[in-house]
Amino acid sequence: MHHFHYERGRLCCEELDIESLVRKVGTPVYVYSRATLTHHFAVFDGAFSHIPHLTCYSVKANSNVAVLALFGALGGGVDIVSGGELFRARRAGIEPKKIVYSGVGKTREEIDYALSEDILMFNIESRQELEAISQRAQALGRTARIALRVNPDVDPKTHPYITTGMEKNKFGIRVDEAVENYRHAMTLPGVDVVGIDCHIGSQLTDTAPFVDALKRLRALMERLRELGVSIRYLDLGGGLGITYADEEPPHPTEYAEAILKEMEGLSCTLIFEPGRVIVGNAGILVTRVLYTKETPTKHFVIVDAGMNDLIRPSLYGAYHHIQPVVLGQRETRTVDVVGPICESGDFLARERPLPQVEPGELLAVMSAGAYGFSMASNYNSRPRPAEVLVDGARYHVIRHRETWEDLVRLETVPQT
Ligand code: LLP
Repeated sequence: MHHFHYERGRLCCEELDIESLVRKVGTPVYVYSRATLTHHFAVFDGAFSHIPHLTCYSVKANSNVAVLALFGALGGGVDIVSGGELFRARRAGIEPKKIVYSGVGKTREEIDYALSEDILMFNIESRQELEAISQRAQALGRTARIALRVNPDVDPKTHPYITTGMEKNKFGIRVDEAVENYRHAMTLPGVDVVGIDCHIGSQLTDTAPFVDALKRLRALMERLRELGVSIRYLDLGGGLGITYADEEPPHPTEYAEAILKEMEGLSCTLIFEPGRVIVGNAGILVTRVLYTKETPTKHFVIVDAGMNDLIRPSLYGAYHHIQPVVLGQRETRTVDVVGPICESGDFLARERPLPQVEPGELLAVMSAGAYGFSMASNYNSRPRPAEVLVDGARYHVIRHRETWEDLVRLETVPQT
């Protein structure tokens, strides 16, 4: 469910007409619906309302401070993977007691920052990281609450670039090495063992891999209990998919049912790290057609947004629905929608049937709220787009469009 719909042939976000919005803010621009963000968060969080849990929104999916602040106000925590994400979360007012920190390459500076903020839990991904965190905590006179991120070796059946819980992936600690690592953690002075964590991948469209992973974690928790390690937090990561084209992912309530069935008899607080399912369909990228171009084999629609603005089609071959902002009677053509970047891999869609469009028209790239702006770059020295949050008939520019001056702000020329 989202709040992007046509009214009299014109695309609106909530009560705001996209074409009139774009007249003020320009293109390319990311447009997010506050009502959709709120609804998605509430539905996910509400699916677990009757058991102790914490929904830690995954900052990487959409890191804008205004978006984080919105979830914070709804009672959410966050999942972070860098010092920068911690900084954003704190800027957004997220309480440290609701922050969990994953990632295989936490630096000493980042560890110290997270310790000084006294976050809820570090999700530890290797033996060396465990040692490093204990050592830094001791040096700073603190105790780090930790979980081990266990790699349950299940196949989430998603794109190979976004699976994370298989043996060949770099993430987590192997299940069969987990007990030994927990034993070791219990002997370390700087850490307090409080949890167990896994994250198996992203854009999952079936509950079975989640259930498999949970079963493996549960067996491990039972072994740990025998060893006197009591687990207070069970973090199941993120990964629930959304509909981009014709996928039919489980609804969050279905996901919750499948998880809760496996939870019987366990008394710990569940942590979730959803990203895409909350923000993915709450945002679009609006772009303007610059030119059209014909070759003997192709019709190209050249737009002002490129792979630097939305890299998912180029990087993963991901599908994003594209539709005109203002509808009209016209023929359909099969086109490649391409950006201005000097790479053949710069496309938003390939061989896509689209109503015939003219230069100057606006197109909406749908389902762009997750891993859109957060993966944007300045490649080809293109300023990154603006981000706008729509609330009913009003809007706020939550990130200004970068300028050419911004592009060179941190650069200096050595004086010889
Ligand atoms: N927790 C951890 C530890 C993660 O690594 C991720 C995503 C999440 C939570 C959130 O997963 P989600 O609920 O959004 O599926 N750039 C790719 C997706 C990469 C996901 C990386 N990790 C894309 O555009 O599809």
